Amino acid sequence: MAKIAVDLPGLRLKNPLLPASGTFGFGDGPIATQVPFAELSGIVLKTCTLDSRRGNPQPQIYQLPDGCLNSVGLTNPEVAAVIDQHLKPLRRKYPALPLIASVGGSSLAEYQAVARQLSDSGCVDALELNISCPNVAAGGLHFGTDPEAVYQLTRAVKAVIDVPLYVKLTPNVTDIRVIAKAAASAGCDGLTLINTLQGLAIDVMRQRPRLGNNVGGLSGPAIKPIALRLVHEVYTVTTLPIIGLGGIETAEDVVAFMLAGASAVGVGSAHFHDPLILPHLAQALPQLLDQMGVADIKNLVGQLRFND
Ligand code: FUM
Repeated sequence: MAKIAVDLPGLRLKNPLLPASGTFGFGDGPIATQVPFAELSGIVLKTCTLDSRRGNPQPQIYQLPDGCLNSVGLTNPEVAAVIDQHLKPLRRKYPALPLIASVGGSSLAEYQAVARQLSDSGCVDALELNISCPNVAAGGLHFGTDPEAVYQLTRAVKAVIDVPLYVKLTPNVTDIRVIAKAAASAGCDGLTLINTLQGLAIDVMRQRPRLGNNVGGLSGPAIKPIALRLVHEVYTVTTLPIIGLGGIETAEDVVAFMLAGASAVGVGSAHFHDPLILPHLAQALPQLLDQMGVADIKNLVGQLRFND
């Protein structure tokens, strides 16, 4: 049977499959409660901020035939509550399960404070820096589209934490390679991409947007070709490990992302159709690799060959 374990900074994963941030809430969402965490390679939590946030007006989610438009707005109970009520119990229950917390904020000082608290909690194996949320008025995307801001923020956060840092990149830029290089030169340990693409769905009868916050972020199979292109572009300009995501639904999709340059992948929207998609993919992957004649999934990373 082909090997599917992968090692990334701070993360020894029994397979390359992680839930995308937001999918499992803080380990307690409607999807998370259906999933046997002990079978997973790790958990990525929803983004949290220094103070609690109630999120954007409803509706926050609009399902499309091949994707999902969301404008949740970083709803969270504040970082201290995430640590006490979610991270500590998760760590107690699953001492060996890799836990990645996601850091949000509206200012450099807030990002630093949140990251420091999460790192100091001793409960996380790595942090993901969310500089790509399209659904908040300040922070998020506003940092992630400016290379100088990405550099300064990444550096500032790295300086106050003791765990590896993955920077989550937005596709809503002209050249993602510039942003990736800025994060890399600031000393991050890995990159996660892509977050959602900004979109708008319109209810023509009401002549209004479908989402309460008007615009939102598109995820799901509709964005997969864009995500694959961007993962490959980033792979060509950095040696950092990449966690690739964007519309992954099948074992073939996982392999495609790894060929494009990802060392691990995140799965989000597919959970709406199959809450057990991660264990199902973990089962299907070795069989696919055996069919391909690949002994170890690590051998696939970046092996995409372009036509002449
Ligand atoms: O709106 C949200 O909570 C989404 C966050 C994100 O896409 O990073």
